[in-house]
Amino acid sequence: MTFKKISCLALSALLLLTGCSSSNSDGYKAGTYTGTAKGFGGDLTVEVVLSTEKIDSVSVTAHAETESIGTIAIDSLPEVITSTQAVDFDVVSGATVTSEAIRVAVTAALKEAGVDASTLVATGGDDQNAEAVIMDADVVVIGAGGAGMSAAIEAADAGKKVVIIETAAMAGGNTTRATGGMNAGNTPVQDTNEFAQTAGVEKTLEAAKAFDSLNELAATVAQQYADYQANPEGYFDTVELFMLDTFVGGKNLNNVELVNTLATNSADGIEWLKSVGVDLSAVGSFGGASVMRIHKPVNAEGKTIAVGSYMIPLLETACTDRDVEILYNAHASEITVDENGAVTGVVAEGYTVNTTAVIVATGGFGANSEMVVGYKPELAGFVTTNAPSILGDGIVLAQNIGANTVDMEQVQIHPTVEQATSALITEGLRGDGAILVNAEGLRFIDEVGTRDVVSAAEVAQTGGYAYLVIDQAMVDNSAVIQGYIKKGFTVQGETYAELAEVMGVDSAALEATMATWNAAVTAGSDAEFGRTSFAEQLVAAPYYAIKIAPGVHHTMGGLEINANAEVLSTEGTPITGLFAAGEVTGGVHGSNRLGGNAVADIVVFGRIAGQNAAAFVK
Ligand code: FUM
Repeated sequence: MTFKKISCLALSALLLLTGCSSSNSDGYKAGTYTGTAKGFGGDLTVEVVLSTEKIDSVSVTAHAETESIGTIAIDSLPEVITSTQAVDFDVVSGATVTSEAIRVAVTAALKEAGVDASTLVATGGDDQNAEAVIMDADVVVIGAGGAGMSAAIEAADAGKKVVIIETAAMAGGNTTRATGGMNAGNTPVQDTNEFAQTAGVEKTLEAAKAFDSLNELAATVAQQYADYQANPEGYFDTVELFMLDTFVGGKNLNNVELVNTLATNSADGIEWLKSVGVDLSAVGSFGGASVMRIHKPVNAEGKTIAVGSYMIPLLETACTDRDVEILYNAHASEITVDENGAVTGVVAEGYTVNTTAVIVATGGFGANSEMVVGYKPELAGFVTTNAPSILGDGIVLAQNIGANTVDMEQVQIHPTVEQATSALITEGLRGDGAILVNAEGLRFIDEVGTRDVVSAAEVAQTGGYAYLVIDQAMVDNSAVIQGYIKKGFTVQGETYAELAEVMGVDSAALEATMATWNAAVTAGSDAEFGRTSFAEQLVAAPYYAIKIAPGVHHTMGGLEINANAEVLSTEGTPITGLFAAGEVTGGVHGSNRLGGNAVADIVVFGRIAGQNAAAFVK
């Protein structure tokens, strides 16, 4: 993981917030003290070294925090504490639990030394009056998530000087939390697939009949499918089927041109990712996809790993290798324009960057509950899987210079979220064979249906929750699931009856459910709920269950763009020099995004935005 210091300017801002005064006027009892607190992944221990005058050093000596989310707090906060000689720091955005654990552990260590941490007042730094740095760049990207960094890499490869402005202390945004993978249609990776399941195609063709405007596309897919069945070679998928799935999933509210662009460029996106070190070499099933289309990373042992935490450090390295400068802890407050409305720069916390091309890639607004509920009041009280920095700022910044928005009321809830921690439990579990059972121990829905349908079914169950049920074979194949076990999300039993007992559901009902499901897997046919994607029977003990309920996951609405990733004004014309990509935009996903289409979106449109911004500045 890359170490990033909290910038001096950000530290100054922090010091100004916390006030400037002396530290411990009575002097310390010199020595080395330790303290422990509960972090996100388990116990976190710190060592605090005191001289008689000051806190000499703070280090985190043991922890089990999430790589790249928690560890940024571990890398940065000890320095903040020694610089300010106090523990009343701002938490690191995206790493609240780890930040608080560090505060509690340091407070405990200081208590050991007889110091009451609450009496310490932050000291000032040398540069607290530092003025904003003024810079020039060919292209400025706002947001260092997957879309922003894809854009930055392309613009840098076109020979441009690129600066990324990031509000958080680390790169990644919501992409860091992406677990499943990237949808791409008709790729060489799909041809290596050992499962030849295509029954979902017929189901999609049937569903497409609900939308007249999809008739022509559906006819094309039907012909492609018939040709394939007459002469099966490789794995069946096409750009047109990818489009049809996306339209059906999004209830045909999607922007046709954007969906076409997404699907057409997806396979090339997989190749491009490989060229920058990101290898998505396995495929699997995901909700709403007729065929196995989601491309996932695996570790050296061939086990599935989470896509976001895998790809973000690699994209970051690709940016660094190209001299892209990333300014962290730099909240962007304004995109400036000239008298003709053309972009002239970005003002951010500590920086003013002059440029003629800005790419907005700040993500959606899923962590802004006020905004979510404003557009969709029925989501009041739902947890969110989003990173805390995903507040919709970029939408507002662009609106301030005349940008139009679309589909803002389309907010997605993801059906499998662990409610105590808001952790996303990836749809990949269902794609790889998990089932959902309710409080009565019964299945209630095709688990790999679209998220809107599965979430609605779940909300309608007793208590509005359900359990994902998996077996040891699934655990053995997935580092992601092993992580869930480590985090304490699972209960387990040696038999279905034992599992039912710890779940608190009727054991006879769960046993019957499992028997029926295992028979359906063998038959390759789900008479109860019409599921068309199957993996293995769930017969390897022990068995595990994770209790889940829906949470806010994706905001489908956002800035209106065209297929060139140019942001359109409320008059319908491109705003000169303004581009956008990823979840900050609207229109790609219609009323419901398919799992795996967010990573496709950030890569495909991130690249297009980077290429076109670079071409714009010549
Ligand atoms: O369930 C998931 O892994 C989510 C993937 C996505 O939203 O694309």
